[in-house]
Amino acid sequence: MTQQSPEMIHALAYGAYPARCLQVVSEIGVADRIDDEPVPVGKLAAACGAAPGALDRVLRLLTAYGVFEERDGGYAHTAASRVLRDDHPMSARPLLRLMGLPMHLDSLSVLQHTVMTGEPAIEVLEAEGVWAYLQEQPDEAEIFNHAMTSKAAADVPAVVDAYDFTPFGVIADIGGGRGHLLRGILDAVPGAEGVLFDRPSVVEALAFPDHPRLALHAGDFFDTVPAADAYVLMHVLHNWDDERTARILATIRKSAAPGATLLVIENVLPDERPTPAALTMDVIMLALTRGRERTEGELSALFDAAGFRFTGMTETSGTMRIAEAKAI
Ligand SMILES: C[S@@+](CC[C@H](N)C(=O)[O-])C[C@H]1O[C@@H](n2cnc3c(N)ncnc32)[C@H](O)[C@@H]1O
Repeated sequence: MTQQSPEMIHALAYGAYPARCLQVVSEIGVADRIDDEPVPVGKLAAACGAAPGALDRVLRLLTAYGVFEERDGGYAHTAASRVLRDDHPMSARPLLRLMGLPMHLDSLSVLQHTVMTGEPAIEVLEAEGVWAYLQEQPDEAEIFNHAMTSKAAADVPAVVDAYDFTPFGVIADIGGGRGHLLRGILDAVPGAEGVLFDRPSVVEALAFPDHPRLALHAGDFFDTVPAADAYVLMHVLHNWDDERTARILATIRKSAAPGATLLVIENVLPDERPTPAALTMDVIMLALTRGRERTEGELSALFDAAGFRFTGMTETSGTMRIAEAKAI
């Protein structure tokens, strides 16, 4: 099947079903009930509280994609299905649980509203947008935060390996979530102090800093952020439109001394031929936020307008790229 073939249309037309099957199987924890031997579907269904016939048909579809295999009267793991286990070091279960939440599924169902109006689909569910939505839905917020943390388990080592953080005395992780990146950086740079900055509901849930050189700081990055030698923004700017991104950068610029470093860590788009995965993330941003994935040139223009100068792009071994700028 080539990219421009009619078969591609059929694959895309039905694509929501296998994706949803994967989410449901992850949500109910099927992969964790299989070890090295095949497990009969009746046993899996009983362990997960599922209807055996329905679970069987859903698993059979997934086997057609190489996720699980049917053998010796049961379902066994493949390399792909092992990644659905909770205890896999690169587990995809938190991400699949996130993609199966109402915030994604309900937004997807009203995507036409977004296409016709340009307004984020999530605002049909919560007028104030995705962060207010998560504030109101603590169960979904828990799954969202867990997915962000576990996605970072792959991203953080790649970022810490790729970029030299040793010149910085104080590093602020702005919109740093649970601090997974900052902890990774502090472990790699023994001389540095870290400030984890996020919304009060996120920071207060952490209750106490669990790293001797990490301080917690609750606040609003449209208002004020603490002073630092380096400001890290991972997966933050792509959540916001240009006007709000400019305001976040301006807030940081107010606290940054000339020469301070700004590091924007996200899937910065190449100027040519971005991958389907990168463009899917862009449409997720369209549906859920007022943000977008940006190219190097687009980021650079926003840096200029806020009083920063783009100084270079660092590639990582993962999906992240690191755009560096200096306060002027
Ligand atoms: C997509 S998450 C990224 C989290 C983390 N940097 C990572 O890469 O895993 C965006 C973060 O921005 C935070 N955030 C949203 N609005 C904020 C605001 N006004 N002030 C501070 N943080 C905010 C959210 O709470 C969330 O933790």
